[in-house]
Formats: sequence, structure tokens, C-alpha cells
Amino acid sequence: MAMTDTQRTVTVLGSTGSIGRNTLDLIERNRSAYRVEALVAHRNVDLLIAQARSVRPQCAVVADEACYAALKDGLAGTGIAVAAGAAAVVEAAQRPAEWVMSAIVGAAGLEPTMAAVRRGSVVALANKESLVCAGDLMMAEVQKSQATLLPVDSEHSAIFQVFDFDRPQSIEKIILTASGGPFRTWERSAMASVTPQQAVAHPNWSMGAKISVDSATMMNKGLELIEAHHLFGLPEHQIDILVHPQSVIHSMVSYVDGSVLAQLGTPDMRTPIAVALAWPARMEAPSPRLDLAAVAQLTFESPDHHRFPALSLVRGALQSGGAAPTIMNAANEVAVARFLAGGLGFLEITAVVEQTLADLGAPAMSSLEDLFAFDTQARHHAAVLCQKRSQAAASGIS
Ligand SMILES: NC(=O)c1ccc[n+]([C@@H]2O[C@H](COP(=O)([O-])OP(=O)(O)OC[C@H]3O[C@@H](n4cnc5c(N)ncnc54)[C@H](OP(=O)(O)O)[C@@H]3O)[C@@H](O)[C@H]2O)c1
Repeated sequence: MAMTDTQRTVTVLGSTGSIGRNTLDLIERNRSAYRVEALVAHRNVDLLIAQARSVRPQCAVVADEACYAALKDGLAGTGIAVAAGAAAVVEAAQRPAEWVMSAIVGAAGLEPTMAAVRRGSVVALANKESLVCAGDLMMAEVQKSQATLLPVDSEHSAIFQVFDFDRPQSIEKIILTASGGPFRTWERSAMASVTPQQAVAHPNWSMGAKISVDSATMMNKGLELIEAHHLFGLPEHQIDILVHPQSVIHSMVSYVDGSVLAQLGTPDMRTPIAVALAWPARMEAPSPRLDLAAVAQLTFESPDHHRFPALSLVRGALQSGGAAPTIMNAANEVAVARFLAGGLGFLEITAVVEQTLADLGAPAMSSLEDLFAFDTQARHHAAVLCQKRSQAAASGIS
């Protein structure tokens, strides 16, 4: 899609989250360049109202219908249209914004992201789960509608910036870097008693709760591997994962002539968001500047598949194909939510995902209807497994 230098119309799905707030921060710093079409949140009405009063979108939407009255009252007299419910979220994505930030967390972001893709808009994709659970279907829609998918994940933004899209055959592999999360150096046995507070305390990045837990189990890197497979069209065996605790090199592309190109920066999501927001131009972002002399040392390690089995699970799910990634993603969302609520042990998260995959397999999947059916089935299955495991743990204690 051709972009002009005039004001760009933007919609932010998940505006109240970590990515959404950083996106609005950049927009507020460049008010003359952007006009906001729609803001969407789940149920954080107070923040949504404050954001809407500040950036003046055409409409503000909450997914939770119980929040409708509060949103309506809070924006009364502003002229900003309000709506609530899952259908209203999809309608918000269908509104005519040139650029859509997809930053709802989890598979809940799939339908609105698909709606923005079908319009042929520029979609800045933070919501990796939608590409994990519906990769082939989404990439087919991208082709059909001629939409532009821009990665927001710092790793994929890095690859996007150094990937030779005109000569993909010259690329040998891509190397996704991983911080290793808060438990990078922990023994596996010590991880058994990890609390939600410990798991969400990421050493380098400030992020929402779900992705922070995914980083701690390293499932996040696995989800990113599937994301990279779809975004850059490379098979699983051409995507490496390398632990790099300083999070300075955000990822690399290795070429057939032995050259390795990397993108570097401080760990601040406003840089990759700015890359997508201003694309194909560049905009100023307030991220702290990289001072390599102060960093002094960049170190690297191979990932440990024994302590972080999620990495092997993901490679297996991608190789199996069909609905396996959808099932894996759904089970992971259920298990992470259960862990955050205090009802499941940290090591049980990956165990529940593994068991769900083993039980449900990799059935063929050719439509969104299939996908929703497998997603629902996997969520139900994983919830039962979580319940059994927490009951077993409780009876073990008593
Ligand atoms: N944070 C990062 O640095 C980072 C980096 C790379 C990729 N990502 C990806 O970006 C996505 C968002 O991550 P985050 O860290 O920003 O998450 P977050 O802080 O938890 O925010 C999630 C956002 O989604 C909204 N939401 C949740 N469920 C919804 C639903 N059913 N309908 C509509 N809106 C819903 C939330 O609204 P409420 O606030 O009202 O609940 C919130 O605005 C994830 O897919 C994550 O993997 C994040």
C-alpha cells in the first residue's frame, strides 16, 4: 500500500495494554502526523476514557459489555462514539483506518486483526498469537487483500529491517535472539516453586503479564519462531534461537556468503513500534540511546531445551502442522491464565501444553470455523488438565 506524508489515520486495538500505551505515547508526541479512528480495550474503562479524551478518536470500544455504561458516561458530550462487545471490536477494526495496531493479547485478537487485514490496511502486528494460531489462513488473506503486515515484536522488527525481501534465496537462516527470561540461570527443580510475581518480573523488558510469563517459560520464543516462519516464509529448520541476555541485538539474518546482519538498540518497545508507525519513513522515538561502551559485553548461549521444554514443543507443533499450533496456543493461554490466578505451578504450564498436544494431535485445519472449533476444544481440554493437576497438587500437600 502506498503511504503519503500527510496525516495517517490509525486505530489501536488493545490501546490500554503495554504495546497500546507505548503506541499512543508516540502518537501523542507527533499529534500533527496522526488522526485516531478507533481505540479498543477489554475492560480498563478508566484508562480508555482518559486516552480517548486525549487523542480524540472517532470511536472507543470495550469488549466487555458490562463496561458500556461507564464508557458512555465517561465520554458523554465529547462527540466520540462508543460501543461494546466482541462484534463491536471487529467493527472498530473494519473502520477506515490506513494503519491498525493489533495489540490485543491472545487469540482474542484474531478476528479484529483478520478484519483489518481483509480491508487491505497496513497492520502493525504485535498480537503474535493470531499468527501462531491462524498463520496459513492469515497469510492467505494478506495475499488476497494486498494488506501489509508489519512486525512489532522487537525480534521480527529487527529481521524485517535487515531481510533482503528481493533476494530471499540469499538468506541462509534467521537467528532469533532471546533474553532467556528471569529464570535463565535457574535449575529446573528451583522453577517448581516460582510465583506469578517472580515470573512477570522480566529482567530487560516491561510487558503485559501474559507475554512476561511466556518469556519466563520461553514459550514466547517458540511463538516467535512460528511468527517468523509465517512472516518471512522460512521453514522451521532455517530459524535458530540464540540466548543473548543483554537484549541489545534484537535478531539477525545470516546470508549465504557468510554475512550476518543485525539490528541493535536498547530494550524499549517504542523503537519497533516507531518503525511500524512511520513505515516506510522513520520517526523520532524517545527510547534511550544505545551506549555500547557502557554495555561493554555482549554474551550468547545456546538455549537449554531440558530446562525450557517449550522450545522443543513448539518446533514439534510447527512440524506437525494442521491445528497443532492452534491447539498449542490455546492450551498455553489457558495454562498461563491459571498460573497467574494462582491455580497452577510454573512448570505445569508447559506440561499442560504438552499433554493437550499429545491428546489432541494435529488434525487438518482448512478454515476459520475449523480453527475456532479446535481452539475451543483445546481450551476445554487444557482447563480440565489444569484442574486435575491443581487437585493432585492440593491432595499431595494435605
Ligand atoms: N508488551 C510487549 O513489550 C510486547 C512485545 C512484543 C509483542 N507483544 C504482544 O503484543 C500483544 C499485547 O501485549 P501487551 O504486553 O501489550 O499486553 P497487555 O499489556 O496485557 O495488554 C493487552 C491489551 O489487550 C486488551 N484486551 C485483552 N483482551 C481483549 C479482548 N477480548 N478484546 C479486546 N481487547 C482485549 C487489553 O484491554 P484491558 O487493558 O482493558 O484489559 C489491553 O489493552 C500480545 O500478543 C503480546 O504477545 C507485546
